[in-house]
Amino acid sequence: MTVERRHRRKAFDCGEPTVNDWLRTRAVQNQDKHLSTTRVLLTGNDDIAGFYTLATGQVDFGDLPPELSRGMPRRALPVAILAWLGVDQRFHGQRLGDRLLAQSLRDCHTAGETFAFVAVFLDCLNDQAKRFYQRWDFQELPGNPYRLFLSFQMLNTLMKK
Ligand SMILES: CC(C)(COP(=O)(O)OP(=O)(O)OC[C@H]1O[C@@H](n2cnc3c(N)ncnc32)[C@H](O)[C@@H]1OP(=O)(O)O)[C@@H](O)C(=O)NCCC(=O)NCCS
Repeated sequence: MTVERRHRRKAFDCGEPTVNDWLRTRAVQNQDKHLSTTRVLLTGNDDIAGFYTLATGQVDFGDLPPELSRGMPRRALPVAILAWLGVDQRFHGQRLGDRLLAQSLRDCHTAGETFAFVAVFLDCLNDQAKRFYQRWDFQELPGNPYRLFLSFQMLNTLMKK
């Protein structure tokens, strides 16, 4: 379900202050403005076990890797953005991160059948987060080691597995 004001956002702690701050202070507000959508996994009451945030964006043709830019028009191109993802520390290591990532990619794939985009992009906070995403075929953007992408074609392939 999408995040709501009644959810206990202040109690959420994934161990990364910037991710906590996003959920606690900006996720609902940005959703109200239709800038992003945050989906939460609840523990039973209104406690949040994990969440992810999706948004849309654009990437300049010149910033795309050759495998994405080939044959594309030389302008800003639409992308999906996996903006945030976190699991409360109480639930780390129970595969919730994988489940949330899988669901976020399913959401992107479904949306991409109506609102086309060329790839899913995300920015990693650190090397650990980067390893987490690279297990799912996300690739590094040349020249920007903490920005990862998954082409829509790769997403299609993943969804068929
Ligand atoms: C990254 C995070 C979402 C993983 O959640 P989790 O529920 O603990 O992960 P899972 O139990 O689903 O683990 C799935 C796999 O990822 C690996 N993994 C989990 N956390 C990892 C991390 N921080 N670094 C590298 N690998 C990690 C696990 O070892 C497991 O791999 P395996 O299949 O080889 O055993 C969680 O640690 C978190 O919330 N971290 C803080 C916020 C953050 O960094 N978010 C991402 C950037 S926005």
